[in-house]
Amino acid sequence: MTSEVIPPKSREVRLVSYPGDEVTLENFEVAEVELGEPGEGQVVVRNDWMSLGTVYRDQMRPATDIPIPVFQLGQAMWGRTVGTVVASHSPDLAVGDLVEHFNGWREYAVGHAGGFFKRDRAQLPSAEYFLSNGPTAWRGMVDIAQVREGDVVFVSGATSGVGCLAGQIAKALGAGKVIGSTGSKEKIDFLTEEAGYDAAFDYHDGPVAERLRELAPKGIDVFFDNVGGEQFEAAVRVAAPGARFALCGSLAGQHGDHEGASPRLDLAGLIPRELTLRGFATLHTPDQIEGWNAQFSTWLSEGKASFPHTVIEGGVAALPEAMIALLKGKHTGTAVARLS
Ligand SMILES: NC(=O)c1ccc[n+]([C@@H]2O[C@H](COP(=O)([O-])OP(=O)(O)OC[C@H]3O[C@@H](n4cnc5c(N)ncnc54)[C@H](OP(=O)(O)O)[C@@H]3O)[C@@H](O)[C@H]2O)c1
Repeated sequence: MTSEVIPPKSREVRLVSYPGDEVTLENFEVAEVELGEPGEGQVVVRNDWMSLGTVYRDQMRPATDIPIPVFQLGQAMWGRTVGTVVASHSPDLAVGDLVEHFNGWREYAVGHAGGFFKRDRAQLPSAEYFLSNGPTAWRGMVDIAQVREGDVVFVSGATSGVGCLAGQIAKALGAGKVIGSTGSKEKIDFLTEEAGYDAAFDYHDGPVAERLRELAPKGIDVFFDNVGGEQFEAAVRVAAPGARFALCGSLAGQHGDHEGASPRLDLAGLIPRELTLRGFATLHTPDQIEGWNAQFSTWLSEGKASFPHTVIEGGVAALPEAMIALLKGKHTGTAVARLS
C-alpha cells in the first residue's frame, strides 16, 4: 500500500575519508541512489527528522572503543531518525505510521518492518521530540546517580543534548540545586533562563574547582559527567562524602586531539569520602525508550520539562556542515535536522 508518490531516487550522506584532527566537508559526499521496490515484509519510510550528536565523531574513527560500529567508507552513514511509513508490504506497519529507526543520513529508508519501531504520534508535541536524549539522561540520573531530594547536582556539558535534559530530570526528581558547565555566556543564560538550571558557569573561566566551590560550598552530591578532563578532576575535588558520579561521556576527549580524555584520578581524595563512580553505555532497550517517552510526555504537560533543541534546515545536503558546526559547539540542546 502506498500513500504518496515516492521518488525513484533518494539522497544519502556517505563518509568518504576518515577525518584527521578536524572534520571537514571533504570527508563526506552526498550521493543519489535508486530507491528500489520494497520486498515482502518491507516498508519504505520517508525520513522526517534525524538527530546529530558527538557520537558520530567517534564513529568516524576506524579505531574507537565505543560499543557502536564505525562508519564504513563509501557507504551511507546511519543514525537515529524518525520518519513516516509511505509504503508498506508488512502487516505490522501501515502507511502514515510514525517510526523511529537507525537509517538516518538519507531521505528515504527501505527495509524490513522489524527494523522500524512504531511511535504514538499523539504522545509528544511533535515528531522530533522522539529524538530527545532523554533515555540516556534519565538512565544516568535515575539508575546510575540515583539522584535524591535535596541533592546538589553538577552536570558537565550541560548544553549538550544529554546535558540539557539531565539537569531538568534532576530538578524534576527533587534535586535542591542543579549546576551546569558550558562554553559561553549565551549558553549560561540559556541554561539558567530556559533550561531549568539553578546556576551555570563557563568552563573557560578559570579553574573549574574554584567555580564549583563558589556555587556549591558544601560540595556536590551528584556528578553527571559528559566531559571528563579537568571537569572530572574538579568534581572529585569538590564532591561531598558519599557523592555518586554517573559517567556518561568524555566530550573533552571526543573533540579534537583527545587532550583531557584521561583525567587524573585522585584516589587519596576519593577513597576517604567513599565516592561512587559508575560509567554507563547504553544502546537503549525498548522499555527504556518507551518509559522515557511516557515520563517526558507527563513532565511536558506539567511544565516540568522542555525539549531544548536546535533545528537544522536544508535537508540531507546540510548534514555535513551541521555536523561540523556541532563539533564547534554552535548548537544548543539536541541538534535535530529536518529532512522532509
Ligand atoms: N553513556 C551513554 O550511553 C551515552 C549515550 C549518548 C551520549 N553519550 C555521550 O554523552 C555526551 C553528550 O552527548 P550529546 O550527544 O548530548 O552531545 P552533543 O549534543 O553532541 O554535545 C555538543 C556540545 O559539546 C560541548 N563540547 C564540545 N567540546 C567540548 C569540550 N572540549 N569540553 C566540554 N564541552 C565540549 C559543546 O558545548 P559547549 O559550547 O558548552 O562547549 C557542544 O555544543 C557525549 O560524550 C556522548 O558521547 C553517552
